[in-house]
Amino acid sequence: MKIDGVPYRSVWIDAEDGWSVRIFDQTRLPWALEILRLTDCAQAAHAIRSMQVRGAPLIGAVAAYGLCLALRADPTADAMERDAAMLAATRPTAINLRWALDRMLLRLRPTQSADRIAAAYAEAAAIADEDAAQCEAMGRYGLELIRGIADTKPGRRVDLLTHCNAGWLATVDWGTALAPIYMAHDAGIDLHVWVDETRPRNQGAALTAWELGRHGVPHTVIADNAGGHFMQHGMVDMAIVGTDRVTRTGDVANKIGTYLKALAARDCGVPFWVACPSTTIDWTVADGLHDIPIEERSPAEVTDLTGRTADGAIATIRVAAMGSPAANPAFDVTPGRLVTGLITERGRCAATAEGLLGLFPERR
Ligand code: MRU
Repeated sequence: MKIDGVPYRSVWIDAEDGWSVRIFDQTRLPWALEILRLTDCAQAAHAIRSMQVRGAPLIGAVAAYGLCLALRADPTADAMERDAAMLAATRPTAINLRWALDRMLLRLRPTQSADRIAAAYAEAAAIADEDAAQCEAMGRYGLELIRGIADTKPGRRVDLLTHCNAGWLATVDWGTALAPIYMAHDAGIDLHVWVDETRPRNQGAALTAWELGRHGVPHTVIADNAGGHFMQHGMVDMAIVGTDRVTRTGDVANKIGTYLKALAARDCGVPFWVACPSTTIDWTVADGLHDIPIEERSPAEVTDLTGRTADGAIATIRVAAMGSPAANPAFDVTPGRLVTGLITERGRCAATAEGLLGLFPERR
């Protein structure tokens, strides 16, 4: 995607040295666009843990490059296994992280130490390229849905609602849930996006709004609690979100608050779609509610808020009563029965075991 006309991906290899890893520091957005240079595995792990990079597909790609950096320091098989385990432990819910590291290990275990680093960079690059291609494909399948809605209301804009950030910042390029929105906008469809602020970390208000703004997509940031109201009043034609893990039965783990949006959408008859690359499907899990680990993050993300003051300084303030404890589950699980359908790189399907197997018959 482009920032002020310059094309970027969310992770790339430094063009000058050919080995260090470049990312945007997403903890600084939307106030500052800062590019970080990662030179060792510990920095890559820190970037994922601290959410300098976040979003399921992107943390998978950064972990893959993190393993490349680890192998530069020590290419032996023992060190590789240790460093991969350390990277895998950085965040628990998004399955892409484990998927990417498993794929790296599968490719690298049979190699000799001398060949391992080059093979690792090639595999990480393939993971990144494939993610960009999958997102582009999901964009095309989602665009058909948006075009279908536009055809039913000529002369009136299509209103979409999204939660968290499932745009290009959350992937290598394009995004998952935002890819169809970018394509529809580029195709000239008159659309507008309701952007859930997505407390507690505000990925919607900070990242999705920033991305959409840079691309010129009309949007409005809303409090998380407002989505149901807009749906009840016929002001949302379709909700579309990303996901961190989908079970083989179609249950969807995504940013906390997604479940409530799906409930409201069902009550109001609003289609609720989930953009899900195959790298986000966990074929080993059937029961999303009980078998997907939900990351518990710091209570400070709930009790405090960080933002820009009128004089341009970045400041953190406390919004909760002093002394009150806070709980902070970072994800929730939306049962497949509340999901209208999944958009994958192979097409759309029902959020059911049969639906997924129809698109991925090799998993039967
Ligand atoms: O905690 P985050 O910001 O990593 O959570 C991200 C989300 O929940 C996204 O919606 C999800 O990863 C899908 S992104 C393509």
